[in-house]
Amino acid sequence: MNLKDKVLFITGAARGLGGTSAKVCAGYGAKIVAVDLLEDQVKQTVEEIKAAGGEAIYATADVRDREQVRAAVQKAVDTYGRIDGLFNAAGVDRIGSVLEMDDETYDFVMDINVKGSFICASEVGKVMKAQNSGRIINTSSIAAVREEANNAPYCMSKAAVAMLTRVLALELAPNITSVAIQPGNIETDMLRGSFKNRGAAEGKDVSEFYAEMEATIPMGRIGQPEDIAEVVAWLFDDRSGYIDGNAILIAGGKIMA
Ligand SMILES: NC(=O)c1ccc[n+]([C@@H]2O[C@H](COP(=O)([O-])OP(=O)(O)OC[C@H]3O[C@@H](n4cnc5c(N)ncnc54)[C@H](O)[C@@H]3O)[C@@H](O)[C@H]2O)c1
Repeated sequence: MNLKDKVLFITGAARGLGGTSAKVCAGYGAKIVAVDLLEDQVKQTVEEIKAAGGEAIYATADVRDREQVRAAVQKAVDTYGRIDGLFNAAGVDRIGSVLEMDDETYDFVMDINVKGSFICASEVGKVMKAQNSGRIINTSSIAAVREEANNAPYCMSKAAVAMLTRVLALELAPNITSVAIQPGNIETDMLRGSFKNRGAAEGKDVSEFYAEMEATIPMGRIGQPEDIAEVVAWLFDDRSGYIDGNAILIAGGKIMA
């Protein structure tokens, strides 16, 4: 894998898939712009990258806020002069029945997952357009193609992100490419919270629901953030560059179960 000197703008970089991908990509030579709402934790990601001999800066931004995203993009350009890759990893889920969920909860999920990805693609996309090159990786989910009860806004948002990826590939062609990843069940803070709440919605405790979910994965284990981060790094490597517009499922075979 060779990401030497590629500048990667990674949202959701405080922890989970964004944080692990930032560290893994830095290990392959990328310069990381780590972006998140959680200042202390995103600083920690940068400290870990530097301690391992890598290069990184951080910016705090809410991906829903265009001005904050613009400021983070400006910081990236001021520091490194360019942005080669965007990984939209910031995301949230909220569990609840279609019959009971309030509009604020729906808006919260859609705004961060869909509008946030859109705003980041828009602002980073302008930099990529000016340099006439770039790679955008969006985070869809297996939930875009495999429906989950009590998770409607999340499933809907991830289907929208897959379509955003296709539109970006068409609109920004030929030299700016886009690809979506569709992780299955990956062990992060989000998964732990989601399993707890989805289990509760079905009257099960978290360990029972966890075991039930694990049994839906042909490979027999919940994924680890590194399972995703290595694919993200590969997708930023020029050698995977002919993949454009589509979504890649990374789910231990779960789609078949
Ligand atoms: N973990 C899984 O099983 C799984 C599966 C499929 C898809 N995903 C997707 O992967 C992405 C990362 O999820 P994760 O599991 O690492 O979750 P996580 O909760 O561990 O990390 C998400 C990060 O996004 C940040 N974030 C949330 N809202 C933000 C905002 N408005 N502005 C800036 N940053 C914000 C959080 O602070 C956090 O650091 C999400 O888009 C999620 O939907 C996760």
